[in-house]
Amino acid sequence: MMPSRRQFLRTLSALPLLPALPSLAQASPQRLRLAPFAQQIAPEGYPATDLWGVNGAMPGETLRRRQGGRLTVEVDNRLPQATSLHWHGIRIDNAMDGVPGVTQDPIAPGTQFTYDFALPDAGTYWYHSHAQSVEQVERGLQGLLIVEEPETPDVDQDIPLMIDDLRVTKDAAIDGNFTAPHDLSHAGRLGNLLLCNGAMTYAQPVKQGERLRLRLINSANARIFVLGLQGLTGWIMAYDGMPLAEPEALPDRLTLAPAQRIDLFVDVTAEAGSEAFLLQFEQDGGYELARFPVAAGSTTTRPAPQPLPPNPDFPIALTDAPTTDLRMEGGAMAWLAQARFKGQTLSGQDLAQLGQFWAFNGSAGRPPEPLLTARLGETHRIRMQNDTLWPHAMHLHGMHFAEVLADGTLGPLRDTLMMREGEAREIAFQAHNPGDWLLHCHMLSHHAAGMGTWIRVTA
Ligand code: C2O
Ligand code: CU
Repeated sequence: MMPSRRQFLRTLSALPLLPALPSLAQASPQRLRLAPFAQQIAPEGYPATDLWGVNGAMPGETLRRRQGGRLTVEVDNRLPQATSLHWHGIRIDNAMDGVPGVTQDPIAPGTQFTYDFALPDAGTYWYHSHAQSVEQVERGLQGLLIVEEPETPDVDQDIPLMIDDLRVTKDAAIDGNFTAPHDLSHAGRLGNLLLCNGAMTYAQPVKQGERLRLRLINSANARIFVLGLQGLTGWIMAYDGMPLAEPEALPDRLTLAPAQRIDLFVDVTAEAGSEAFLLQFEQDGGYELARFPVAAGSTTTRPAPQPLPPNPDFPIALTDAPTTDLRMEGGAMAWLAQARFKGQTLSGQDLAQLGQFWAFNGSAGRPPEPLLTARLGETHRIRMQNDTLWPHAMHLHGMHFAEVLADGTLGPLRDTLMMREGEAREIAFQAHNPGDWLLHCHMLSHHAAGMGTWIRVTA
């Protein structure tokens, strides 16, 4: 007989060889102190940048836990603003989702809030502020949540690469204009400083022939990264935390929209004494995001990796699944004529005065009614039509979805899907996690300027 999911999780958490577990029994949870601090992110010769950090770092402290365990952290807000932390991509209890006004009250300055939830999925996840996020994520409130597989996969190094771009002034201060109408209505807030793991010159020594697990995370406000590797070849193992049933050969270019993650296994093929690179491509050429100085090692090629072990499965059953339409409208050059906002119908001009430039199904901002209501266990389809002239990174909280491809099959599980300008694409998911869950554009300026809705899953 197949073990049920609950048994599966209990078995996992009962395994005696989990080093993370003994500390879970300790009385006091790990503390995450959210506070201003300064870090050198601009090149030499510029001053350090005032940021908002998690335990004095940006990205904030990396949280690593074992699948089947729990995450318990006490957030201590030492910032001048109310805040919250959202645990992006992991399928957690709704009350812990970290959305002020939906799942919790904002954490006021000088107060604490404890997040405590089970970790059903292994993979690469991240956390970030979900309060005034255009400002708070840009100032630095972001970090990694890595949930380890029950058995560590066969790699020599596990290297998270959190990629960001920040907009700084000529004095290397975070540009304080977070509500510029041009950013809200065009591509979002794009930066002028590209960072990997909080540094412009991130470097990690490797050996020839080593197999690396690279965890790529785009934590930028709005930039879509087009990435490539040099001196490294390998496989895509997982998207947005969820393992692929079969690893895919690495293509020349990888597109990583805001909030998306890709896990790679790559072998170091660069010669000893040279360097391998993670590059970002723009129209005018490539930029180095990370470098890997290569020491002598082995030159034997290794067999292709086994897939990562699957996470608990919530099968998507397309037959008879109800379909909901989501029309994405507005933004520069396709300006809204009008939309509903906070219970009123307003003209595009009036909305622009309020910093609202985008709408879903004729509503700007989070509407009072959900886009759809699903009963637990039902599969739902959402047909998204991007009638704007801009790309958007559509993120569903609480559950992963799969794209329904043109031939009717399902693509890989994801929590964030990039929609190019003019595109129509359909997603489907099993409503397996009860609660109210946001569905929004993860270009944070777009979300702030109207691109948000929500769904309800009833128990
Ligand atoms: Cu990563 Cu609603 O967010
Ligand atoms: Cu968008």
